[in-house]
Amino acid sequence: MTTAKHSKQNRAVISDYNGYDYKKIFWEDADRKYEDAADRMAIRKLLPREMENFVDVAGGYGRLADEYLPRAKSATLFDYSKTELAQAREKYGDKLKTKQGDIYNLPFKDGEFSTLMMIRATHHFKDMEKVLAELYRILRPGGIAVIEVANKRTLPRIARYFTGKTKASPFTHNVANLSDVDKDGFFNYHPKYIENLFREAGFKIDKVLSVSNFRSKGLKKVFGTKNLIKMEKGAQAILAPIRFAPSIYYRLEKPGDK
Ligand SMILES: C[S@@+](CC[C@H](N)C(=O)[O-])C[C@H]1O[C@@H](n2cnc3c(N)ncnc32)[C@H](O)[C@@H]1O
Repeated sequence: MTTAKHSKQNRAVISDYNGYDYKKIFWEDADRKYEDAADRMAIRKLLPREMENFVDVAGGYGRLADEYLPRAKSATLFDYSKTELAQAREKYGDKLKTKQGDIYNLPFKDGEFSTLMMIRATHHFKDMEKVLAELYRILRPGGIAVIEVANKRTLPRIARYFTGKTKASPFTHNVANLSDVDKDGFFNYHPKYIENLFREAGFKIDKVLSVSNFRSKGLKKVFGTKNLIKMEKGAQAILAPIRFAPSIYYRLEKPGDK
């Protein structure tokens, strides 16, 4: 993720992972086994057991492909980064189709997929309305979308706000733009704001999970990764109604007959 580029069509910022070894730097070299396990737990609960035609949108190098490949008759990995798509092809070969492009203009037909998933990507997208319109378009009626959202209203941010360490309120519905991160900005969303966008796009919210509830270096030190994973198992559904975790997972349905 070395540079920020502007796409000509809509001037939205693209977080460019070309030439950045996301797999090694973010997942393998850092201590993120807990976060990876938390994502997998949520996906197992939310993805349909059997899927006709599935796409992993902004799926990177296919970190989560071993979760969806056994459930899908056909699976496609879509991403902007050629570097990551090449890593996926090396690992999965013909089992996983790959397609490169920009999320704001998805290179897929209307209603092409029965199911889609988009994990750890919303924080890159400045124009979520356009992203959701595209996701809705490529899903067939009755189709399912599993989308992870970067939450701005987390417990640590609430604590920082009430102890005066930040003036940025986690309670307002405006999009939080952490613009100095790698120059291209990370966007975080208030749950109510994003849920309104889902509904406005035409989706029905079917299920919600609270994910990565214990994402903290301190907690990892005190409890250890194994125990945090056990705690996460119980917490994802129980804590969903309060939506205070850094990742909120949604299972959405595009209304209509299959
Ligand atoms: C944090 S990674 C997440 C990858 C994967 N979903 C996962 O959970 O391991 C974010 C991904 O979004 C992709 N991305 C960023 N902007 C994009 C855009 N405009 N169109 C398509 N993909 C984009 C990046 O290339 C990167 O692979």
